[in-house]
Amino acid sequence: MFKIVVFDAYGTLFDVYSVSKMAENLFPGHGQELSLMWRDKQIEYSRLISMSDPHNPNGSRHYQSFWDITRLALNYSCQRLKLELTSHAQKELLDQYAELKAFPENLGVLHDLQKRGYKSAILSNGSPEMLATAVRSAGMTTLIDKVISVDSVRQFKTSPESYGLVLQNYAVDKREVLFVSSNSWDALGATWFGFRSFWINRQDLPFETLGPKPSHTGRSLEDVLSLVKG
Ligand code: LAC
Repeated sequence: MFKIVVFDAYGTLFDVYSVSKMAENLFPGHGQELSLMWRDKQIEYSRLISMSDPHNPNGSRHYQSFWDITRLALNYSCQRLKLELTSHAQKELLDQYAELKAFPENLGVLHDLQKRGYKSAILSNGSPEMLATAVRSAGMTTLIDKVISVDSVRQFKTSPESYGLVLQNYAVDKREVLFVSSNSWDALGATWFGFRSFWINRQDLPFETLGPKPSHTGRSLEDVLSLVKG
């Protein structure tokens, strides 16, 4: 059985596409397209850095925090979609990103896990400040035991160093970690690392064909409770 539940943050606990409403107000007809491209570019930049930087013979110089990457990905996406991003609009979107809405079922699930004696933690690409704000504004402060940011290893998921931070924070074996993510690539990375993985497939998507499949799959965070209800 697992001893600790570790959640991904963006997309899993916090709804990254909830910014699309504000994006739609700012750029009518382009809100969804912008929020999708913004997210994809943000993840692409994180991978670009993680693949190139740690092995750079000139030293690690290209690392930027996830918050900076998030801003740069927004700038790129607006340029690509030919949307004029004023500094006011940029601020509005980033402020909204800082306080993303949590998916509605999440607080109840975290409460339930706590009641049953399980510790919940977060392992996220997010920088410590942005995670602290998100956790606070979602009302999760007392429900999350530790918020672990990959920032300290200057590499993003899915690098083994980033998942390894869980083992530095908790004296548990890899197989005693249940890693929950709605990002299929993250569930795959966690499986490769050796965690028990739980993929929350909110959008009825196929799993990555690279495989292997995650240890568990569900449709919402509530499905995690099926593993702990006896
Ligand atoms: C996270 C993003 C990448 O690590 O989902 O929170």
